[in-house]
Amino acid sequence: MRVAFVGKGGSGKTTLSSLFARHLARQGGPVVAIDADINQHLGLALGLGSDQLPPPMGLAITQIKDYLRGDNPRIPSAAAMVKTTPPGSGSRLITLDDPYFAREHATTVPAVPGLRLMVTGPFSEDDLGVACYHSKVGAVELFLNHLVDGPGEHVIVDMTAGGDSFASGMFTRFDMTYLVAEPTRQGIGVYNQYREHARDFDVPLAVVGNKIHSEGDVAFLREHVGDHLLVTLPHSPAIRAMEQGRPFTLDDLEPEGHRALGVLRDHLDAQTKDWDKFGRQTVEFHTRNAHAWANRATGQDLLQQIDPDFVYGRRPTLTTR
Ligand SMILES: Nc1ncnc2c1ncn2[C@@H]1O[C@H](COP(=O)(O)OP(=O)(O)OP(=O)(O)O)[C@@H](O)[C@H]1O
Ligand SMILES: [Mg+2]
Repeated sequence: MRVAFVGKGGSGKTTLSSLFARHLARQGGPVVAIDADINQHLGLALGLGSDQLPPPMGLAITQIKDYLRGDNPRIPSAAAMVKTTPPGSGSRLITLDDPYFAREHATTVPAVPGLRLMVTGPFSEDDLGVACYHSKVGAVELFLNHLVDGPGEHVIVDMTAGGDSFASGMFTRFDMTYLVAEPTRQGIGVYNQYREHARDFDVPLAVVGNKIHSEGDVAFLREHVGDHLLVTLPHSPAIRAMEQGRPFTLDDLEPEGHRALGVLRDHLDAQTKDWDKFGRQTVEFHTRNAHAWANRATGQDLLQQIDPDFVYGRRPTLTTR
């Protein structure tokens, strides 16, 4: 299962991504956490120092494209591959244990056995709003497009704040999207934006209320997001202490926090994988992208990359490189 954490800046996306990753890793089964945010803080929230982060995916986009296109004759070069280029016959499909990504683009998290971290890499002010930002996140989109995750495996993506994620098809790459919302008007504002996109694109969405102080906070969220409210997390002294740089393990989290993480896990694992929809949306966004800019940018008809016979969701046999 793949899940994205989205929401307003500062709502708690990174905190919840890191706690949920720790929680899932403790249950066993491979877990990959991906920092796809402009502000790269997920490593820190997982207790890693800045010298312990993996090599950024965003800086290796050409190697990643070459790896994923494999022997697909429809994609003759990395230059012809854009972030939405779908896999087809000959493409290299991957699992969470893929040796190339594990070796080149991931790091294990020493304090959390079973968890690996991948990162897009930092963005500078100059990157924002220009192609560079989207091409860095594009590395994650390509990874997710070629990933065939199985039962008991989890990918958690810490997304960028606000509605920026709609700029690409990335928000359709998940089995579930958790929108983290504080009980404030601004928190609800991002929810309203997301809800419409989620409805238009048939993306499953649930709200995680965060930094809750009172019953009144819960009532506020319930009033504005209705049944989308899945669970709430109180304002947590343990999380505050972690933010203050004190050593943190999941055992330090209060019981309400553990309960909330359990609700998220059960809810996520109860989702039904819909590979047909995944495939349809992959093709849909590639087609849009090709018409909008990618045909022009590459000088090619990128619709030729769509393999009509390709079946999504077939587990690859392990390859080495
Ligand atoms: N339940 C909580 N209790 C106490 N503090 C919290 C809680 N959730 C998040 N915080 C604090 O709120 C701040 C913002 O959290 P976090 O960095 O996870 O948000 P974010 O949505 O990832 O922000 P950004 O948009 O900047 O990436 C941090 O200081 C974090 O420790
Ligand atoms: Mg963050």
